[in-house]
Amino acid sequence: MNLHRNTELIYHGRKIKGMGLEPEAMPLFTASAFNRTDLDDVRQTSLDKGFPYVCTRNPNRELVADVINYLEAGEASLICQSGMGAITTTLFALAKPGTHLIANSTLYSETLEFLEEMLGTYGVEVTFVNFAKLEDVAAAVKPNTSVIYTEVVSNPMIDLADIEGCAKLAHDAGGLLIVDNTFTTPIVVKPLTLGADVVVNSCTKFINGHSDVLLGSVSAKQSLIDKIYHTQMLLGTVGSAFDSWQCLRGTETMGLRVPRQVENAAKLAAALEKHPCVTAVKYPGLPSHPQYELACRMFKEGFGAMFNFSMPDDLEGINAFMHKLQFVRYAPALGGLRTTMSNPTYSSHSSLTEEARAKLGIHLGLMRVSVGTEDADDLIADFYQALDVFKK
Ligand SMILES: Cc1ncc(COP(=O)(O)O)c(C=O)c1O
Repeated sequence: MNLHRNTELIYHGRKIKGMGLEPEAMPLFTASAFNRTDLDDVRQTSLDKGFPYVCTRNPNRELVADVINYLEAGEASLICQSGMGAITTTLFALAKPGTHLIANSTLYSETLEFLEEMLGTYGVEVTFVNFAKLEDVAAAVKPNTSVIYTEVVSNPMIDLADIEGCAKLAHDAGGLLIVDNTFTTPIVVKPLTLGADVVVNSCTKFINGHSDVLLGSVSAKQSLIDKIYHTQMLLGTVGSAFDSWQCLRGTETMGLRVPRQVENAAKLAAALEKHPCVTAVKYPGLPSHPQYELACRMFKEGFGAMFNFSMPDDLEGINAFMHKLQFVRYAPALGGLRTTMSNPTYSSHSSLTEEARAKLGIHLGLMRVSVGTEDADDLIADFYQALDVFKK
């Protein structure tokens, strides 16, 4: 059949030779839909969980989900458009109106706001507790507790939640434990193997690791992922093909990046603890951390790449320190290749009153550090020469 120009222009040459080849680098599939030959093919695609429409499934999203599933030791995983997308989709799917949810009071601020402002109005009763003490979580359990929700390491105080203990509390109450593993990464800890039912990650951070993606993941048993997937279809919170493609590349080097970041964090935290102008360092891998024993029990490969340290509460001095750093920079993000710092008083916790911050242990000179892949000696030298500004 001879087609006219406008028809030719959209059909000509659309057959990709060697579609069955295995390309050395994964291609990006931007197609919003895939053609089917007949109704048998339509049905088979659905049975095979193939790729009918981008919202339902996309090859790049499936690939990165598969890798994260492997990392988190899940039965199944799905990819959302951001960490917040993963968290809100999971909670809308699993926290039912009329039930009770216990959340760590130290969660990422937007997760806290979502729980307070949205889940509350949707009929879920939310109790906030600091998870640093398991007995406080136990005391908050009610007969209708259906979800316990926590991050493994709190921001910015670097307190640990006992995942095994929380899982037991949730299961004894007939509920589920949902864990955000963003700060720790599945290289350091796999919450599903400690009894958690669902694990979410902001892949924007360590999992992608290159500070150029916005993506989230959810990993769990197949039956829970089926429920969350259904909610995801209704909310439309699927991850984009491009970010999934980019993130897959990030995961390929995760086994090289994260252990290096963790090793650097241990060296930098230990060095800062010895500096005369540093008043405190909180890192789960230092014996001075009050939950060091719990960290040794929970963590499999090092103690993560996040810590905080305290300098004098002297604004001028802190600014001078920041200017004097040669390559370490300030950024309200974490998990990238470069070491970055952020100041909870000025960034994540700036909306709180000074008293509220003090109650959490946050003071002006407290800095949160996300450690990168630099050479540890350079990192230590940069912090040390910049800290000289505090020497009288
Ligand atoms: C612990 C934690 N969870 C979730 C999120 C949200 O992730 P995203 O920015 O990918 O939505 C963040 C963001 O900083 C985070 O730190």
